[in-house]
Amino acid sequence: MATSSRHLNIVLGVGGGIAAYKSASLLRLLKEQGHDVHVVPTVAALNFVGAATWEALSGHPVSATVWENVDEVPHVRLGQEADLVIVAPATADLLSRAAQGSANDLLTNVLLTARCPVVFAPAMHTEMWTHAATQKNVATLRSRGVVVIDPAVGRLTGADSGAGRIPEPEEIVSIALGCVDGGDRDLIGRSVVITAGGTREYIDPVRFIGNRSTGKQGIALAVTAAARGANVTLICANVSLPIPTGITVVHVETGPELREQVLAHGRNAEAIVMAAAVADFTVTSESFTKIKKSDSEQSISLELVKTADILKELVTRRNNEHLRQVIVGFAAETGDASATVLEHGQAKLDRKGCDLLVVNEVGKNLGFGTDDNAAVIITREPRAHCEVARTSKSNLANSIWDEVRIHFERS
Ligand code: CTP
Repeated sequence: MATSSRHLNIVLGVGGGIAAYKSASLLRLLKEQGHDVHVVPTVAALNFVGAATWEALSGHPVSATVWENVDEVPHVRLGQEADLVIVAPATADLLSRAAQGSANDLLTNVLLTARCPVVFAPAMHTEMWTHAATQKNVATLRSRGVVVIDPAVGRLTGADSGAGRIPEPEEIVSIALGCVDGGDRDLIGRSVVITAGGTREYIDPVRFIGNRSTGKQGIALAVTAAARGANVTLICANVSLPIPTGITVVHVETGPELREQVLAHGRNAEAIVMAAAVADFTVTSESFTKIKKSDSEQSISLELVKTADILKELVTRRNNEHLRQVIVGFAAETGDASATVLEHGQAKLDRKGCDLLVVNEVGKNLGFGTDDNAAVIITREPRAHCEVARTSKSNLANSIWDEVRIHFERS
Protein backbone atom coordinates (compact mmCIF):
# COMPACT_ATOMS: atom_id res chain seq x y z
CA MET A 1 0.00 0.00 0.00
CA ALA A 2 1.00 3.58 -0.14
CA THR A 3 2.24 3.74 3.38
CA SER A 4 5.71 2.41 4.00
CA SER A 5 6.41 -0.09 6.75
CA ARG A 6 9.93 1.42 6.98
CA HIS A 7 10.44 4.69 8.79
CA LEU A 8 11.78 6.86 6.04
CA ASN A 9 14.13 9.80 6.01
CA ILE A 10 12.26 12.27 3.81
CA VAL A 11 13.22 15.70 2.48
CA LEU A 12 10.20 17.90 1.80
CA GLY A 13 11.20 20.67 -0.60
CA VAL A 14 8.80 23.61 -0.64
CA GLY A 15 8.68 26.01 -3.59
CA GLY A 16 7.57 29.62 -3.52
CA GLY A 17 3.90 29.35 -4.39
CA ILE A 18 0.69 29.98 -2.49
CA ALA A 19 0.14 26.20 -2.30
CA ALA A 20 3.07 26.10 0.18
CA TYR A 21 0.51 26.25 2.98
CA LYS A 22 -0.88 22.88 1.89
CA SER A 23 2.53 21.32 2.47
CA ALA A 24 1.96 21.78 6.20
CA SER A 25 -0.80 19.12 5.91
CA LEU A 26 1.50 17.00 3.77
CA LEU A 27 4.18 17.22 6.46
CA ARG A 28 1.62 16.27 9.11
CA LEU A 29 0.55 13.18 7.14
CA LEU A 30 4.16 12.05 6.74
CA LYS A 31 4.95 12.61 10.42
CA GLU A 32 1.74 10.77 11.43
CA GLN A 33 3.07 7.74 9.60
CA GLY A 34 6.26 7.89 11.64
CA HIS A 35 8.64 9.29 9.01
CA ASP A 36 11.46 11.71 9.77
CA VAL A 37 11.01 14.80 7.61
CA HIS A 38 13.49 17.63 6.92
CA VAL A 39 11.85 20.61 5.28
CA VAL A 40 13.92 22.56 2.75
CA PRO A 41 12.03 25.62 1.51
CA THR A 42 13.26 28.00 -1.14
CA VAL A 43 13.82 31.62 -0.10
CA ALA A 44 10.64 32.53 -2.01
CA ALA A 45 8.65 29.85 -0.17
CA LEU A 46 9.46 31.53 3.14
CA ASN A 47 7.34 34.49 1.97
CA PHE A 48 4.33 32.19 2.13
CA VAL A 49 5.07 30.00 5.16
CA GLY A 50 7.84 30.94 7.59
CA ALA A 51 10.68 28.77 8.89
CA ALA A 52 9.14 28.67 12.38
CA THR A 53 6.13 26.71 11.07
CA TRP A 54 8.32 24.14 9.33
CA GLU A 55 10.64 23.81 12.33
CA ALA A 56 7.78 23.33 14.78
CA LEU A 57 6.00 20.78 12.59
CA SER A 58 9.09 18.82 11.52
CA GLY A 59 11.14 19.04 14.72
CA HIS A 60 14.25 20.00 12.74
CA PRO A 61 16.01 23.30 12.02
CA VAL A 62 15.11 24.77 8.65
CA SER A 63 17.26 26.67 6.20
CA ALA A 64 16.89 27.73 2.59
CA THR A 65 20.56 28.41 1.87
CA VAL A 66 23.81 26.47 1.88
CA TRP A 67 25.43 29.14 4.10
CA GLU A 68 23.92 28.02 7.42
CA ASN A 69 25.24 25.15 9.58
CA VAL A 70 28.05 24.86 7.04
CA ASP A 71 30.02 22.53 9.35
CA GLU A 72 27.30 19.90 8.85
CA VAL A 73 27.58 20.18 5.05
CA PRO A 74 23.78 20.06 4.72
CA HIS A 75 23.83 20.61 0.95
CA VAL A 76 25.39 17.16 0.52
CA ARG A 77 24.23 15.28 3.61
CA LEU A 78 20.47 15.93 3.31
CA GLY A 79 20.24 14.59 -0.24
CA GLN A 80 22.62 11.67 0.32
CA GLU A 81 20.79 10.48 3.44
CA ALA A 82 17.26 10.85 2.05
CA ASP A 83 15.11 7.80 1.21
CA LEU A 84 12.67 10.06 -0.61
CA VAL A 85 12.51 13.69 -1.76
CA ILE A 86 9.11 15.31 -2.27
CA VAL A 87 8.91 18.80 -3.77
CA ALA A 88 5.52 20.39 -3.11
CA PRO A 89 4.60 22.81 -4.43
CA ALA A 90 6.98 22.72 -7.38
CA THR A 91 6.81 26.11 -9.08
CA ALA A 92 7.66 26.77 -12.74
CA ASP A 93 10.96 28.31 -11.61
CA LEU A 94 11.85 25.32 -9.44
CA LEU A 95 11.05 22.86 -12.26
CA SER A 96 13.25 24.96 -14.53
CA ARG A 97 16.18 25.08 -12.10
CA ALA A 98 15.89 21.34 -11.37
CA ALA A 99 15.80 20.51 -15.09
CA GLN A 100 18.89 22.71 -15.67
CA GLY A 101 20.77 21.09 -12.78
CA SER A 102 21.22 24.43 -11.01
CA ALA A 103 22.68 24.45 -7.51
CA ASN A 104 21.89 27.96 -6.38
CA ASP A 105 20.08 27.23 -3.11
CA LEU A 106 19.88 24.40 -0.58
CA LEU A 107 16.94 22.65 -2.25
CA THR A 108 18.54 22.45 -5.69
CA ASN A 109 21.75 21.14 -4.05
CA VAL A 110 19.69 18.45 -2.34
CA LEU A 111 18.12 17.53 -5.69
CA LEU A 112 21.59 17.07 -7.22
CA THR A 113 22.92 14.93 -4.38
CA ALA A 114 19.81 12.76 -3.90
CA ARG A 115 19.95 9.25 -5.35
CA CYS A 116 16.55 8.21 -3.99
CA PRO A 117 13.10 8.60 -5.61
CA VAL A 118 12.24 12.27 -6.25
CA VAL A 119 8.62 13.34 -6.65
CA PHE A 120 7.50 16.80 -7.79
CA ALA A 121 3.96 18.07 -7.21
CA PRO A 122 3.65 21.15 -9.46
CA ALA A 123 1.31 24.02 -8.69
CA MET A 124 1.04 27.13 -10.81
CA HIS A 125 -1.30 29.03 -13.05
CA THR A 126 -2.62 27.11 -16.08
CA GLU A 127 -0.75 29.26 -18.60
CA MET A 128 2.54 28.70 -16.78
CA TRP A 129 1.93 24.93 -16.58
CA THR A 130 1.01 24.56 -20.25
CA HIS A 131 3.82 26.85 -21.49
CA ALA A 132 6.22 25.01 -23.78
CA ALA A 133 9.19 25.89 -21.51
CA THR A 134 7.57 24.31 -18.45
CA GLN A 135 6.43 21.26 -20.40
CA LYS A 136 9.98 20.80 -21.74
CA ASN A 137 11.38 20.98 -18.20
CA VAL A 138 8.81 18.44 -17.00
CA ALA A 139 9.70 16.11 -19.89
CA THR A 140 13.43 16.49 -19.07
CA LEU A 141 12.87 15.66 -15.41
CA ARG A 142 10.65 12.67 -16.27
CA SER A 143 13.26 11.37 -18.72
CA ARG A 144 15.68 11.24 -15.77
CA GLY A 145 13.28 9.13 -13.71
CA VAL A 146 11.89 11.98 -11.62
CA VAL A 147 8.17 11.57 -10.90
CA VAL A 148 6.26 14.73 -11.83
CA ILE A 149 2.63 14.42 -10.77
CA ASP A 150 0.18 16.07 -13.16
CA PRO A 151 -1.48 18.98 -11.36
CA ALA A 152 -5.16 18.67 -10.61
CA VAL A 153 -7.81 20.65 -12.46
CA GLY A 154 -9.80 23.00 -10.28
CA ARG A 155 -10.02 26.38 -8.61
CA LEU A 156 -6.74 28.32 -8.77
CA THR A 157 -5.58 31.20 -6.55
CA GLY A 158 -7.97 33.72 -8.00
CA ALA A 159 -11.52 33.30 -9.21
CA ASP A 160 -10.44 31.29 -12.24
CA SER A 161 -9.92 27.57 -12.56
CA GLY A 162 -7.99 25.16 -14.76
CA ALA A 163 -5.03 22.77 -14.66
CA GLY A 164 -2.40 23.82 -12.15
CA ARG A 165 -3.85 23.07 -8.74
CA ILE A 166 -1.63 21.14 -6.42
CA PRO A 167 -2.95 17.61 -5.87
CA GLU A 168 -4.39 16.93 -2.41
CA PRO A 169 -1.77 16.07 0.26
CA GLU A 170 -3.13 12.49 0.57
CA GLU A 171 -2.58 11.92 -3.14
CA ILE A 172 0.96 13.27 -3.05
CA VAL A 173 1.82 11.12 -0.04
CA SER A 174 0.32 8.01 -1.64
CA ILE A 175 2.17 8.50 -4.91
CA ALA A 176 5.45 9.43 -3.23
CA LEU A 177 5.46 6.54 -0.78
CA GLY A 178 4.45 4.24 -3.62
CA CYS A 179 7.77 5.16 -5.28
CA VAL A 180 9.92 3.94 -2.39
CA ASP A 181 11.13 0.35 -2.88
CA GLY A 182 8.44 0.15 -5.56
CA GLY A 183 5.90 0.66 -2.72
CA ASP A 184 3.51 -2.06 -1.69
CA ARG A 185 1.71 -2.26 -5.03
CA ASP A 186 -0.45 -5.03 -3.65
CA LEU A 187 -3.56 -4.15 -5.68
CA ILE A 188 -1.77 -4.08 -9.00
CA GLY A 189 -4.08 -4.95 -11.89
CA ARG A 190 -7.16 -5.25 -9.64
CA SER A 191 -10.19 -3.37 -10.94
CA VAL A 192 -12.17 -1.60 -8.27
CA VAL A 193 -15.28 0.56 -8.35
CA ILE A 194 -15.92 3.11 -5.60
CA THR A 195 -18.93 5.35 -5.07
CA ALA A 196 -18.50 8.72 -3.37
CA GLY A 197 -20.56 11.74 -2.36
CA GLY A 198 -24.27 12.00 -1.75
CA THR A 199 -27.22 11.52 -4.08
CA ARG A 200 -29.96 14.10 -4.71
CA GLU A 201 -33.62 13.24 -5.01
CA TYR A 202 -35.46 15.93 -6.94
CA ILE A 203 -38.71 17.45 -5.67
CA ASP A 204 -39.07 19.77 -8.65
CA PRO A 205 -36.62 21.26 -11.19
CA VAL A 206 -35.01 23.54 -8.58
CA ARG A 207 -35.33 21.64 -5.30
CA PHE A 208 -33.97 18.38 -4.08
CA ILE A 209 -33.44 16.30 -0.96
CA GLY A 210 -29.72 15.83 -0.44
CA ASN A 211 -27.26 15.04 2.30
CA ARG A 212 -24.00 16.40 3.70
CA SER A 213 -21.61 13.89 2.19
CA THR A 214 -18.70 15.64 0.39
CA GLY A 215 -17.06 12.54 -1.09
CA LYS A 216 -13.75 12.94 0.78
CA GLN A 217 -13.71 9.36 2.09
CA GLY A 218 -14.58 7.97 -1.35
CA ILE A 219 -11.83 10.05 -2.98
CA ALA A 220 -9.34 8.85 -0.34
CA LEU A 221 -10.35 5.27 -1.19
CA ALA A 222 -9.81 5.96 -4.89
CA VAL A 223 -6.43 7.65 -4.43
CA THR A 224 -5.06 4.97 -2.12
CA ALA A 225 -6.29 2.14 -4.35
CA ALA A 226 -4.68 3.78 -7.39
CA ALA A 227 -1.42 4.25 -5.47
CA ARG A 228 -1.48 0.54 -4.63
CA GLY A 229 -1.76 -0.26 -8.33
CA ALA A 230 -5.52 -0.80 -8.81
CA ASN A 231 -7.50 0.32 -11.87
CA VAL A 232 -10.00 2.62 -10.25
CA THR A 233 -13.43 3.84 -11.36
CA LEU A 234 -14.89 6.47 -9.04
CA ILE A 235 -18.61 7.14 -9.34
CA CYS A 236 -19.15 10.59 -7.88
CA ALA A 237 -22.54 11.79 -6.71
CA ASN A 238 -22.41 15.59 -6.56
CA VAL A 239 -18.75 15.79 -5.56
CA SER A 240 -17.22 19.23 -6.06
CA LEU A 241 -13.74 18.42 -4.72
CA PRO A 242 -10.91 18.09 -7.24
CA ILE A 243 -10.37 14.50 -8.35
CA PRO A 244 -6.76 13.43 -8.87
CA THR A 245 -5.55 12.22 -12.22
CA GLY A 246 -5.19 8.51 -13.00
CA ILE A 247 -8.71 7.65 -11.87
CA THR A 248 -11.69 7.09 -14.18
CA VAL A 249 -14.44 9.40 -12.95
CA VAL A 250 -18.17 9.09 -13.65
CA HIS A 251 -20.42 11.90 -12.42
CA VAL A 252 -24.00 11.22 -11.35
CA GLU A 253 -26.67 13.16 -9.47
CA THR A 254 -29.50 10.91 -8.37
CA GLY A 255 -29.82 7.49 -6.75
CA PRO A 256 -31.16 5.83 -9.95
CA GLU A 257 -28.22 7.29 -11.94
CA LEU A 258 -25.74 5.99 -9.38
CA ARG A 259 -27.45 2.59 -9.43
CA GLU A 260 -27.23 2.38 -13.23
CA GLN A 261 -23.53 3.33 -13.28
CA VAL A 262 -22.42 1.13 -10.40
CA LEU A 263 -24.26 -1.89 -11.82
CA ALA A 264 -22.66 -1.30 -15.24
CA HIS A 265 -19.10 -0.50 -14.10
CA GLY A 266 -19.24 -2.97 -11.21
CA ARG A 267 -20.01 -6.05 -13.30
CA ASN A 268 -16.37 -6.80 -14.02
CA ALA A 269 -14.93 -5.23 -10.89
CA GLU A 270 -13.11 -7.34 -8.34
CA ALA A 271 -14.11 -5.00 -5.52
CA ILE A 272 -16.97 -2.54 -5.12
CA VAL A 273 -16.97 -0.06 -2.27
CA MET A 274 -20.25 1.75 -1.63
CA ALA A 275 -18.97 4.80 0.22
CA ALA A 276 -21.64 7.11 -1.24
CA ALA A 277 -24.51 8.26 0.93
CA VAL A 278 -27.46 7.10 -1.15
CA ALA A 279 -30.85 8.56 -0.26
CA ASP A 280 -32.99 5.94 1.46
CA PHE A 281 -36.19 7.65 0.30
CA THR A 282 -37.16 9.51 -2.84
CA VAL A 283 -40.09 11.72 -3.77
CA THR A 284 -43.07 9.63 -4.92
CA SER A 285 -43.85 11.94 -7.80
CA GLU A 286 -41.31 14.55 -8.83
CA SER A 287 -42.95 17.69 -10.16
CA PHE A 288 -41.60 18.63 -13.58
CA THR A 289 -42.64 22.23 -13.07
CA LYS A 290 -41.59 24.43 -10.19
CA ILE A 291 -43.92 24.05 -7.20
CA LYS A 292 -45.48 27.46 -6.43
CA LYS A 293 -46.66 28.51 -3.02
CA SER A 294 -50.24 29.71 -2.77
CA ASP A 295 -51.63 32.16 -0.22
CA SER A 296 -54.22 29.69 0.98
CA GLU A 297 -51.83 26.83 1.80
CA GLN A 298 -49.82 27.00 5.03
CA SER A 299 -48.20 23.61 4.53
CA ILE A 300 -47.63 21.04 1.85
CA SER A 301 -46.98 17.34 2.14
CA LEU A 302 -44.25 15.48 0.40
CA GLU A 303 -44.74 11.77 -0.01
CA LEU A 304 -41.57 9.72 0.02
CA VAL A 305 -41.02 6.16 -1.09
CA LYS A 306 -38.12 3.84 -0.33
CA THR A 307 -35.33 3.72 -2.91
CA ALA A 308 -33.78 0.56 -4.32
CA ASP A 309 -31.03 -0.71 -2.02
CA ILE A 310 -28.10 -0.76 -4.44
CA LEU A 311 -25.70 -2.48 -2.06
CA LYS A 312 -28.15 -5.36 -1.53
CA GLU A 313 -28.74 -5.59 -5.26
CA LEU A 314 -24.99 -5.82 -5.93
CA VAL A 315 -24.70 -8.63 -3.38
CA THR A 316 -27.67 -10.49 -4.90
CA ARG A 317 -26.19 -10.22 -8.39
CA ARG A 318 -22.77 -11.33 -7.17
CA ASN A 319 -24.30 -14.39 -5.46
CA ASN A 320 -26.66 -15.31 -8.31
CA GLU A 321 -24.03 -14.93 -11.01
CA HIS A 322 -21.18 -16.37 -8.91
CA LEU A 323 -19.02 -13.28 -9.54
CA ARG A 324 -15.68 -13.19 -7.73
CA GLN A 325 -16.23 -9.86 -6.08
CA VAL A 326 -15.54 -8.32 -2.69
CA ILE A 327 -18.36 -5.94 -1.75
CA VAL A 328 -17.93 -3.28 0.92
CA GLY A 329 -20.69 -1.19 2.50
CA PHE A 330 -20.60 1.83 4.74
CA ALA A 331 -22.93 2.62 7.63
CA ALA A 332 -23.47 5.55 9.93
CA GLU A 333 -24.59 4.41 13.36
CA THR A 334 -25.22 5.64 16.88
CA GLY A 335 -25.69 3.32 19.78
CA ASP A 336 -29.15 3.38 21.43
CA ALA A 337 -31.12 1.61 24.13
CA SER A 338 -31.56 -1.48 21.97
CA ALA A 339 -27.97 -2.07 20.80
CA THR A 340 -24.41 -0.74 20.65
CA VAL A 341 -22.87 0.73 17.50
CA LEU A 342 -21.12 -2.58 16.87
CA GLU A 343 -24.32 -4.62 17.32
CA HIS A 344 -26.22 -2.32 14.93
CA GLY A 345 -23.33 -2.66 12.47
CA GLN A 346 -23.28 -6.46 12.71
CA ALA A 347 -27.04 -6.61 12.14
CA LYS A 348 -26.70 -4.33 9.11
CA LEU A 349 -23.89 -6.45 7.68
CA ASP A 350 -26.17 -9.49 7.88
CA ARG A 351 -29.08 -7.61 6.31
CA LYS A 352 -26.98 -6.30 3.45
CA GLY A 353 -24.97 -9.50 2.92
CA CYS A 354 -21.80 -7.65 1.92
CA ASP A 355 -18.32 -8.91 2.89
CA LEU A 356 -17.19 -5.88 4.86
CA LEU A 357 -19.06 -3.07 6.54
CA VAL A 358 -17.28 0.12 7.55
CA VAL A 359 -19.21 1.57 10.46
CA ASN A 360 -18.82 5.23 11.33
CA GLU A 361 -19.96 6.22 14.75
CA VAL A 362 -21.73 9.49 14.04
CA GLY A 363 -21.95 12.48 16.33
CA LYS A 364 -18.29 12.74 17.32
CA ASN A 365 -17.31 15.68 15.13
CA LEU A 366 -16.08 13.23 12.53
CA GLY A 367 -17.39 12.33 9.14
CA PHE A 368 -18.93 14.83 6.73
CA GLY A 369 -16.37 17.17 5.21
CA THR A 370 -13.64 16.51 7.79
CA ASP A 371 -10.17 15.23 6.94
CA ASP A 372 -10.23 12.66 9.72
CA ASN A 373 -12.42 9.67 10.34
CA ALA A 374 -12.73 6.75 12.75
CA ALA A 375 -14.52 3.49 12.12
CA VAL A 376 -15.06 -0.13 12.96
CA ILE A 377 -14.50 -2.48 10.02
CA ILE A 378 -16.68 -5.58 10.40
CA THR A 379 -16.07 -8.69 8.33
CA ARG A 380 -18.75 -11.32 7.67
CA GLU A 381 -16.59 -14.41 7.19
CA PRO A 382 -15.00 -14.93 9.58
CA ARG A 383 -17.16 -12.76 11.84
CA ALA A 384 -14.65 -10.28 13.22
CA HIS A 385 -14.14 -6.56 13.62
CA CYS A 386 -11.26 -4.16 13.94
CA GLU A 387 -11.36 -0.63 15.24
CA VAL A 388 -9.58 2.13 13.36
CA ALA A 389 -9.07 4.97 15.83
CA ARG A 390 -9.32 8.58 14.65
CA THR A 391 -6.93 9.03 11.74
CA SER A 392 -6.80 10.60 8.28
CA LYS A 393 -9.38 9.41 5.73
CA SER A 394 -6.39 8.16 3.71
CA ASN A 395 -5.20 5.93 6.53
CA LEU A 396 -8.70 4.57 7.05
CA ALA A 397 -8.92 3.92 3.30
CA ASN A 398 -5.67 1.94 3.45
CA SER A 399 -7.00 -0.14 6.35
CA ILE A 400 -10.09 -0.94 4.26
CA TRP A 401 -7.92 -1.98 1.30
CA ASP A 402 -5.83 -4.15 3.64
CA GLU A 403 -9.03 -6.06 4.51
CA VAL A 404 -10.13 -6.23 0.86
CA ARG A 405 -6.72 -7.62 -0.10
CA ILE A 406 -7.07 -10.37 2.53
CA HIS A 407 -10.42 -11.27 0.91
CA PHE A 408 -8.77 -11.32 -2.55
CA GLU A 409 -6.13 -13.70 -1.27
CA ARG A 410 -8.78 -16.01 0.13
CA SER A 411 -10.91 -16.22 -3.00
N1 CTP B 1 -26.95 2.13 0.19
C1 CTP B 1 -27.35 1.67 -1.06
N2 CTP B 1 -28.57 1.99 -1.55
C2 CTP B 1 -29.43 2.71 -0.82
C3 CTP B 1 -29.05 3.18 0.45
C4 CTP B 1 -27.80 2.87 0.92
O1 CTP B 1 -26.55 1.00 -1.71
N3 CTP B 1 -30.60 2.99 -1.33
C5 CTP B 1 -25.63 1.75 0.69
C6 CTP B 1 -24.72 2.91 1.05
O2 CTP B 1 -23.88 3.27 -0.02
C7 CTP B 1 -23.90 2.34 2.21
C8 CTP B 1 -24.91 1.44 2.88
O3 CTP B 1 -25.83 1.05 1.88
O4 CTP B 1 -22.83 1.54 1.75
C9 CTP B 1 -25.62 2.20 3.99
O5 CTP B 1 -26.73 1.50 4.32
P1 CTP B 1 -28.04 2.17 4.95
O6 CTP B 1 -29.00 1.06 5.20
O7 CTP B 1 -28.53 3.32 4.18
O8 CTP B 1 -27.45 2.61 6.27
P2 CTP B 1 -27.43 3.97 6.96
O9 CTP B 1 -27.13 5.05 5.96
O10 CTP B 1 -26.45 3.78 8.04
O11 CTP B 1 -28.92 4.20 7.43
P3 CTP B 1 -30.00 3.35 8.28
O12 CTP B 1 -29.30 2.76 9.46
O13 CTP B 1 -31.00 4.36 8.58
O14 CTP B 1 -30.54 2.27 7.38
